[in-house]
Amino acid sequence: MKKISESEREDIISRAKSAVNDEPIEWFDQLYGMANRDPAIIPWARMAPNQIMMNWVEENCSLGNALVIGCGLGDDAVGLENIGFSVTAFDISEHCVDWCKERFPNSKVEWLVGDILDPKQEWYGNFDLIVEIHILQAIPDGGIREKAAEQMPKLLADNGKMLCIGRLDDGRQTIQPPPWPLKQTWLNDSFAMLESLEFTPFRNDDSLDVLRYYAAWQNKV
Ligand SMILES: C[S@@+](CC[C@H](N)C(=O)[O-])C[C@H]1O[C@@H](n2cnc3c(N)ncnc32)[C@H](O)[C@@H]1O
Repeated sequence: MKKISESEREDIISRAKSAVNDEPIEWFDQLYGMANRDPAIIPWARMAPNQIMMNWVEENCSLGNALVIGCGLGDDAVGLENIGFSVTAFDISEHCVDWCKERFPNSKVEWLVGDILDPKQEWYGNFDLIVEIHILQAIPDGGIREKAAEQMPKLLADNGKMLCIGRLDDGRQTIQPPPWPLKQTWLNDSFAMLESLEFTPFRNDDSLDVLRYYAAWQNKV
């Protein structure tokens, strides 16, 4: 694969992001397509499972069915599979889902193209664990993000747990969206029908200026 320069990379990302106002969700597929299987183009590609997710899940969850919303390049889904979950992972972008299948040909993860705004009927009430990392913050507000958040609790099985990770808006940060950092009150209000298990602000060592959170809820019955 031809190695691209930093300015070419910036150009591709900004061309994709420039579509965000007209196509708040479709631009993701354009970016994955333009990346042409080069993960250096994808700003959020870690190529490893999110360590906060792995630690939290290992400490707090029993094995079962897991759903990864907006799975990106698939590392989180495979991380959960490797510790014993039966995993369904979906993303709005077909390019991205095809890329996951190519990266993990031996994985038993069920990779699907899907939209959190319109989940599959069979997903309702089905998952013991739902993971959302940097998805709600990637969807603009003004109705669409609220619709996405409305769907998520409905996908949990009885006593199922939901883990969300993202940027926290404490009113003191400025950032050119996307992403749109989320307020703790918005998250708590959106998931008020679930029992809150924890809400933990944190910063990554490599980006101390960015305030983040991980938060978990449970569908207690
Ligand atoms: C910022 S990336 C995060 C990807 C991954 N969760 C990670 O942490 O690496 C946001 C992802 O959400 C996907 N996405 C955006 N809107 C979506 C929707 N409505 N339904 C499903 N996936 C969506 C995008 O295609 C993209 O892969």
